[in-house]
Formats: sequence, structure tokens, C-alpha cells
Amino acid sequence: MGHDHPPIPLDSVDFTVHRPREFERRFGHVLDYMARVELEVDRNVLEITTMLPDPPEVDRHFYADVWQPQEIQHGLILDKLQVELGRSPAAPDTDSIGAKLRILGTMAHLPSFQDVCRMLYYLTGMATERSAVVAYNLLHQGTTEMGEDAVATTIIGQIKRQEPGHYAFYQLSARALWDELTGWQRWMVRLMRRISFSPVGANDAAQKADFGDVMATLGIADAASDFAEQISRVERELLWARRRGLRVPDYVTTALREAVDLAKARAHLPHLHR
Ligand SMILES: [Fe+2]
Ligand SMILES: [Fe+2]
Repeated sequence: MGHDHPPIPLDSVDFTVHRPREFERRFGHVLDYMARVELEVDRNVLEITTMLPDPPEVDRHFYADVWQPQEIQHGLILDKLQVELGRSPAAPDTDSIGAKLRILGTMAHLPSFQDVCRMLYYLTGMATERSAVVAYNLLHQGTTEMGEDAVATTIIGQIKRQEPGHYAFYQLSARALWDELTGWQRWMVRLMRRISFSPVGANDAAQKADFGDVMATLGIADAASDFAEQISRVERELLWARRRGLRVPDYVTTALREAVDLAKARAHLPHLHR
């Protein structure tokens, strides 16, 4: 399966940008955010091995042979593009595992708790990959509108084709595992998801504001509830099916609104810009 899903070859990519200043001004920070998140796949792999010491073979194969090689290449290509535009390279955090995860890792050695951790990981994967699908579609559209066809076709176009496969893996895995969980495990997943949800790549206030800026540039900030619905559709169906009429889990809406608000607040306090 690995070579059916090769990472994007670097020599298939064309970094030609006709109007680098304009392109950088509009999308530079989006490229930086996405490059960082893609490159942080190496930390995600560390997290998986901490949280899930004993993954099913299908998962191990997906992480090692498909997902990590593809994502790291997305990150390297986007990072090279932003450097070509005169920006600093992304500063991914590839090796720090938070205390929260270490505790989870310890508890994950109990088999019934390991399934709770796996479920949380699949839910995060679904929201992350769905966010990537939406974001790359919008970035592709914006890049095309600017007439930057080389970037649109050979970079964003190629990357965006690989994201739906990642989403499919997490969705199938989440559906299958949810069916197997007992009542207390489901209760635990709901509780932990509610207290730990954050937008992809947003681990502190500055990164949340960065995410809010990305939402604004891609036109998601004003349609935050549609975006929230898209990234949490299956999660709502699985975890919150009994809450009829609930369109989006409230913790998703709250987290996205917080990102938008932090970005707006920072824009009014220029000295807080990094
Ligand atoms: Fe990616
Ligand atoms: Fe992905």
C-alpha cells in the first residue's frame, strides 16, 4: 500500500510565483501555519507511541508508511515555498510531549483505557484532516484567483488530493472503534474530548490567534459555524447522537470563536505581534 501513496516528489513541484510580494502578503502566514502543522507530524508520531504503545497493525502501517511520509513532505514543500517568498522557515515543535499526554500514556497501558485514548486520537485525526481538506481547498481557490497557477497546481493541488485519504482513515477507524466501546468508555471519551479539544496546531494563545488569522484570510472566520459543522460532523453523530438538534458540539464552536477573538484582539495590539 505504501508505494500506492507516494509522498509528493520534490521534482514534481514548481515554485514559480509571479507576484511574490502580493502573494506573500496575502498567504504567507497561511503557508507558515500549515507548514508548521504538517512538520509537527513527527511529534504526533511520538504522541501516538506514547499514548498507544500497542497499536493495531493497520494503524501502525498507516502512520508509518502512508501518513507520516506524506505529511512531512507537505510540510517541507510548503516551508520551502515560504522561504522562497523571503519568509523565515516554520518553527515546528517536533519533540515535546505535554504532561497531559504523559499521564494519558501511563493510563493507556490499561487495555480498556487504551481504547479510550485511541478513540480520542481518531477524533483529533478526523477534525484535523477535515480542517486540512477545507483549508487547502480554499487556499487552492485563492491561489488560482491570484493567477499563481504553478503553486495552485503543483503544490496546493497535489497536497489537497492526499488529505481526503487521511480523513477517510480516521473516519473509518473512529466509526469502527466507537461501536466496540462500552458505556463507561464512551462517557470517558465525551468527557475528555470536551476538556481537550483545540483547533489543529493551536496549542497556546499565540497559536490560537495565528489560527484565527488563517481563518480570516481563508474566509472561514465569518462562516465559523459552517466550518465547525464540517470538521465535527461525524464526531457529533457518534458522540452526541442523543442530543437531537445539536448542530455542532459546543466545545468546537467555543474554541473556534476563541481563535477568531484572539486574532482580532492581537490585531489591535500590534506590539504583541511576534
Ligand atoms: Fe498534509
Ligand atoms: Fe493529512
